[in-house]
Amino acid sequence: MFCTQNITDDIIFVGGSDRRLSLFENAIPIPNGITYNSYIVLDEKTILLDTVDKAISALFFENVAHALNGKKLDYVVINHMEPDHAATLEELILRYPEVTIVGNNKTFNMIKQFFTFDIDSRMHLVKEGDVLSTGAHSFSFYMAPMVHWPEVMVTYDATSKALFTADAFGTFKAFSGNIFADQVNFERDWLDESRRYYSNIVGKYGMQTTNLLKKMDTLDVQLLCPLHGPIWRENISWYVNKYKKWGSYTPEDKTVVIAYGSIYGNTENAAHILANKLSQKGICNIEMYDTSVTHPSYILSEAFRVSHLVFASSTYNGEIFQTMQTLLHDVVEHNMQNRTVAFIENGTWAPQSGKKMKALIEPLKNMTILDTSVSIKSSVKTEQLNLIDALATQIVESLK
Ligand code: FEO
Repeated sequence: MFCTQNITDDIIFVGGSDRRLSLFENAIPIPNGITYNSYIVLDEKTILLDTVDKAISALFFENVAHALNGKKLDYVVINHMEPDHAATLEELILRYPEVTIVGNNKTFNMIKQFFTFDIDSRMHLVKEGDVLSTGAHSFSFYMAPMVHWPEVMVTYDATSKALFTADAFGTFKAFSGNIFADQVNFERDWLDESRRYYSNIVGKYGMQTTNLLKKMDTLDVQLLCPLHGPIWRENISWYVNKYKKWGSYTPEDKTVVIAYGSIYGNTENAAHILANKLSQKGICNIEMYDTSVTHPSYILSEAFRVSHLVFASSTYNGEIFQTMQTLLHDVVEHNMQNRTVAFIENGTWAPQSGKKMKALIEPLKNMTILDTSVSIKSSVKTEQLNLIDALATQIVESLK
């Protein structure tokens, strides 16, 4: 049975939630689920903005049929071709063969890579700034390459002042009835998942995200309609400011996250001693993560949040401990910048992890590597205790 909600008198939410998928992109845990948003605007000509993942296709097609209420579907805009939004495009064409597909050059190349149906006869090609009128509404298209794929664009409806933002402003987490950000406690219940979505999915492309934000500055946006998570109709600038920080790799919080990879608990002990000393020296809101316990997507998100990062790792097969290695590659691949970083290494006969961690992180842009390096042989002894204390002091000084 259909499950739609009106966003305005003539904009209808026709997407839905998925709590069954365990790994988004078969890689990132989503214990709180996810939404796939899709919107219909009812006008003289009807227009659908993006489709949904296959997982909720049955509900989606009921929603579309209910929203159209017997009207013909005239246009479908493809803002993003990733299958979590476009996998149901072919079925849409089978059900609504007269629909015209709106996309840019890159969109149509990708549609042809994913599908074999007759695309050319129903294609409406748009480029930067092009306008499509459906009657009372007029839609303009702005390219947002690499937020998150090369073909991504956003669509602005000058009538409702709604911006359909593709993956930008999306979050993990399924809806529980409320689809508007002003109906939930977003900062308490959604922000962490929003940051985790941004950092893992779009985080590598901060410059491109910043470019999109600059384009947005020229538009009067009263409704923010992303492809995942809540729709914004109030306090949009608060969320845009979060994006300005994330896109420019600017920390939100001046504090320390300590991530440790420990085989028998001795590296973990060093990490706890450091956290303890930081606390005693007045640092608040420290967070610690065991890289073997917490999925790297969460720790990467924390790295986007805080100013100071400590990586503590055992040496394993002459390398960085494997779960720490996975995390650090994630940090590097997502283009992390502007952080203060320290390392703690451990090794029973040939500690290597410190220099190898440093070699990975040092080339990143504008990273301050603290020069107090702590090297442990098997377990913390008095000598290392003094070094950990010196590191804590250096971290405290750099936080001032
Ligand atoms: Fe939500 Fe890049 O797809």
